[in-house]
Amino acid sequence: MTGSFAIASLDACEVLDSRGRPTVWCEVVLGSGARAAASVPSGASTGRHERHELRDGGDRYDGRGVRRAVRNVVDEIAPAVLGLDARDQEQLDATMLDTDGTPALERLGANAVLSVSVAAALASAAATGTPLYRYLSELRGERPVIPMPMVNILSGGAHAARALDLQDFLVVPHAATTFSQAIEWVAAVRESAVLVAESRGHHARLAADEGGLGIALDRNEDALELLTDAIERAGHEPGATVSIAVDVAATQLVHPEGYELRLEGRTLSAAGLLDEIARWCESYPVCSVEDAFGEDDWDGWRRASVRLPGVQLVGDDLFATDVARLRRATELGVANAVLVKPNQRGTLSGALEVLDHARSRGYATILSARSGETEDSWLADLAVGWGSGQVKVGSTTRSERTAKWNRLLVIEHQLGPGAALARFARPAV
Ligand code: PGA
Ligand code: ZN
Repeated sequence: MTGSFAIASLDACEVLDSRGRPTVWCEVVLGSGARAAASVPSGASTGRHERHELRDGGDRYDGRGVRRAVRNVVDEIAPAVLGLDARDQEQLDATMLDTDGTPALERLGANAVLSVSVAAALASAAATGTPLYRYLSELRGERPVIPMPMVNILSGGAHAARALDLQDFLVVPHAATTFSQAIEWVAAVRESAVLVAESRGHHARLAADEGGLGIALDRNEDALELLTDAIERAGHEPGATVSIAVDVAATQLVHPEGYELRLEGRTLSAAGLLDEIARWCESYPVCSVEDAFGEDDWDGWRRASVRLPGVQLVGDDLFATDVARLRRATELGVANAVLVKPNQRGTLSGALEVLDHARSRGYATILSARSGETEDSWLADLAVGWGSGQVKVGSTTRSERTAKWNRLLVIEHQLGPGAALARFARPAV
């Protein structure tokens, strides 16, 4: 039996992500002949605490080639993992960490390691004749649950040539009762946002890295106003059925004197930024704020957690999908939700460990794609199979985004009338 699940061969090559930059593709073949492939994503607003993404340097692709990572899959990872039972994800991932031997996967690259980790899970599921989401939920003994989507409508920061200082203005359709209804609502909000923006004289037809609208507004707050109007124009009562989520991505705004809002020509102290965010949360239907402070500004984070108890406060760069950083936060009472990005960690077991720890401490979990994605949809299966509760993959345009939404739509369809959509719960005050 083990033999048929034993890893028989690995193959890898360089492919392109949605920004046209190289990334790693890997295929795992098992003893039974079952095979599966996965390619890995890449961020633009990457945090310092993420595991290392190995790039070649040199002239090719402005130094962004991944031929070394590809060679590492074939020359170093394959000899170490051939023969292992692909169903034993923890053993496989631990073997790769050992083979690398550095804390941040600097030698083999988190991109190389994750590609094997994901392809092995997909191959195991294929060998059992089950889709990945069902394979994972059965391993956990849980019912598959469709995550509530958090969907990008307006983009700024590193994803939209800094059209706005804040990186993402998203919506959460929390009153939707099915996933297909949730997607229908947010697609309507995106359409309305285009119309509202154009009625105000903005050009709003070009899509940013995650498919959101990159509109040059005068103030960051204008995006909140525009989005609130778009929710209304789409036939919803802002805050009652559809609310706003913001990713400040504040690590990108860090300045020697605090945080710089370049668009507005202002530099705020941490206290000033908190006042601003608190005012936004009072004036607009904001239910979730991500990376309100920089990745090492534990004091700013602590103050925000005291001041905004009813808001979902999500750590992305703060946690970098690292369980030690999450543990520190849960002990200090910092944040109440964690963004889980498998490539920040480098292995599926590591990402799941963070998700489980968060859940055990009552923190919400949001499985997240990166701004550089591929047409793969395994993230959708992880979100359902692991029961993450929420998912964030960008907007409702661009195929690398719709690949994930479409996968969730198909999963909901396949689950039939019993499909459950996770509820968005505001943090208890
Ligand atoms: P990134 O952005 O993939 O460029 O890091 C996503 C996010 O910050 O949530
Ligand atoms: Zn983020």
